[in-house]
Parts: sequence; structure tokens; C-alpha cells
Amino acid sequence: MILVTGGAGFIGSNFVLDWLANPKAEGIVNLDKLTYAGNLSTLAPLEKDSRHVFIKGDIGDSTLVAHLLQQYRPRAIINFAAESHVDRSIHGPADFIQTNILGSFNLLECTRTHWNSLPIEEQQQFRFLHISTDEVYGSLGANDTAFKESTAYEPNSPYSASKAASDHLVRAWFHTYGLPVLTTNCSNNYGPFHFPEKLIPLVILNALNEKPLPIYGDGMQVRDWLYVSDHCAAIRCVLEKGALGETYNVGGWNEKANLDVVKTICAILDELRPRANGASYAEQIRFVTDRPGHDRRYAIDASKLERELGWKPSETFDTGIRKTIEWYLGHPEWVAGVQSGSYRDWINRHYVA
Ligand code: NAD
Ligand code: DAU
Repeated sequence: MILVTGGAGFIGSNFVLDWLANPKAEGIVNLDKLTYAGNLSTLAPLEKDSRHVFIKGDIGDSTLVAHLLQQYRPRAIINFAAESHVDRSIHGPADFIQTNILGSFNLLECTRTHWNSLPIEEQQQFRFLHISTDEVYGSLGANDTAFKESTAYEPNSPYSASKAASDHLVRAWFHTYGLPVLTTNCSNNYGPFHFPEKLIPLVILNALNEKPLPIYGDGMQVRDWLYVSDHCAAIRCVLEKGALGETYNVGGWNEKANLDVVKTICAILDELRPRANGASYAEQIRFVTDRPGHDRRYAIDASKLERELGWKPSETFDTGIRKTIEWYLGHPEWVAGVQSGSYRDWINRHYVA
């Protein structure tokens, strides 16, 4: 088995589905607290798959985590669990400190105790892979070179500061205790099952619902977009081939200004689902007050991962964004569940006897 935390969220659920799509893959124990961001209906195709064991719980619960490690003896842990939305971290940072820092600390400590108890061969095979973000590096100017693994950490939001803290803990557990860790720092993901508080799904669904498309500030902030299945492939690659204690930047080589992203979405929707009045969805764009501490530009240099482990993204932004829009248009039930809030009842309807 492997243990995945946060596997009912956006990237975690894509990872679990991708992993178990391989009939020869090991099973997954999926530990997720099911916050507002956890959506078990995404994992409905696995309901009868005995290789997927879902556990509702908190990475900060040491009794539960210790018990799961003892019971399932996973050969690897992949830590996706986090509070992930920058805007929420500005309005209420406490949950970010609790899960991203203290939760990660607890997971590391339980893992260390468990790992120390393993026979030497199992210790050598064991991996703890921590999923992190490019936001820990702070903000780039227009002409700065892209973030490398050696770039100094300069987090600017409560979210990125909490992720930076967890990255430092992971590093320390390697250098101090020898825990076999790996860390990935990834750029902005997009694709299926993305919760519509984040820019791309928010714009797709607001456009279709004839709501305003909010652009923070001047809309010229730049993000480096990566299609989520490319991220999943990178994680599998680092898990199998990554050098212990190393960090790997993951990115799509797809730098785009927010305004261009939104205009691209509008143009594709104009083609695939034209508005009844014939006008463009771009008419719904509204410039709104900027996010406090808004980072101007992120850009990832993912050449280490390509050079050393042979990974590179397979989607361009043009192919990935079209697939994403087609996915949202083709999955009205998933969208309705999220928009009505009924996705939160899924665990009661499907998992409680
Ligand atoms: P998400 O918010 O969609 O999902 C997070 C998941 O973690 C949810 O299912 C939630 O229920 C679960 N969770 C939250 N607190 C928990 C706790 N205390 N114990 C157990 N489970 C808990 O996030 P995401 O976008 O899928 O991001 C996953 C990871 O990847 C995060 O660590 C994030 O920092 C990182 N990351 C995200 C992106 C991105 O663009 N989305 C990019 C780079 C890195
Ligand atoms: O860079 C990786 C990070 O990407 C991850 O670590 C985070 O978990 C993930 O949420 C994402 O953070 P961002 O803040 O970049 O993503 P978000 O979708 O919230 O915003 C993308 C950009 O769009 C950002 O510059 C803010 C802007 N924006 C966002 C929203 C929600 C808008 O202009 N309008 C909006 O309504």
C-alpha cells in the first residue's frame, strides 16, 4: 500500500484516480479530513475497488495516523493534505497554521516513529513525499529568472508562509533524523475536479452562469500553469526515482497573465457553448480590488526534474485548457453537486452504514 493524505481534494483525487487506473498498481489508503475542499463524489468510480481504502480523519491526529501506519505498513506516504487557497488564508490564517504546519509536523513525527520500527530493508525502501508549491519562493519581477530549487524562500501570504514552514520541517527531518523524504514544489495546477474558488474553474462556471468574471487588480499577474495529470506523472516519477532529501520544481513552462487566461477561457466557451444573445463571454469580465500581498509573477524552472529524472509536461496550455473546459461542460452533475453543496453529503449517503 501507499498512504495518500488529502486524496479527496483537487490534486490528490486526480492522483488517486490516475494511480489506480493502472490495474497493477498497489492499493491506496486515503486519509482526508473532508474539509469544504474534500469531495468524495470525485472518487465515486472507486467505490467498489478494494484497492482504495478511504479514511475520514486529520493528519494532525497522532493516534489515528500511528494506527494507520501500523495497520497498513505503507511503503510510501504522499502528503497532499493542506489548506490551499490564498484568499482564505488572508481572511482566516488559523486553519493554515493548524493543518499545513502542525498537521505536517504530526505526520512527520508519526512517520519517524513508525520508520524507526521497520526492518532495515523496509526502512531503505520507504519514502515520504511532501507536495508543496512554488509560492514559497515569493514574487518575481518581469525580467527575473525562473525559480530554481536553490532560490531563497520569500513567502508573502499566510498560505505560502505555512507551506514554507512545512517544507523546512520536512528538510530538517531528513538532515536530523535521516527520514527518507522528497519534496516537490509545483506551479499552478488546473484540470478536472478543481474546486470553483480558484481562478480557472471559477471563471468557467461564472461565465456559464452569467455572473461577473472577477479580475484582481490589473490582471497582469503571471502564473505558470500545469495540467494536473502532468503533475501526477511528475509525483510518480519523483516517488520512484527521486534522490533522498532532494527537492524538485515542477512546472508547465506555461507563463500566462491572468487576463490572458480569462480571455482564452471566454474565447473557447464562445466557440463551444455560444451565449444565447451572441455576445462574447468576455463582456462579463470585471476588474475588482486586488488581493493584499498579491505576488506579481511566478515562473518555475523545471529543468532539474527533466535532466535528472526524465519528466516533462505533455500538455501545453492550449491543449490543457481546452480539455479542462470540455470536462466542465461534460460533467454537469459534478458541478451541480459542488454548487449546491450536496457533495458534502456524499460520505453519509455512501460510506455510513
Ligand atoms: P485542495 O484544497 O483541493 O485539497 C486539499 C485536501 O486536503 C482536501 O481534500 C481536504 O479535505 C484535505 N485536508 C485539509 N486539511 C486536512 C487535514 N488536516 N487532514 C487531512 N486532510 C486534510 O488542495 P489541492 O489544490 O489539491 O492541493 C493539494 C496539495 O498540493 C496542497 O498541499 C497544496 O499546497 C499543493 N499545491 C497545490 C497547487 C495547486 O495549484 N492547486 C499547486 C502546487 C502545490
Ligand atoms: O502557484 C501554486 C499555487 O496556485 C498553489 O500553491 C495554491 O494552492 C493554488 O491555490 C494556486 O494559488 P493562486 O493564488 O495562484 O491561485 P488562484 O486560482 O487563487 O489565483 C490565480 C491568479 O488569479 C492569482 O494571481 C489571483 C488571480 N485571481 C484569482 C481569483 C480566484 C483573480 O484575478 N480573480 C479571482 O477571482
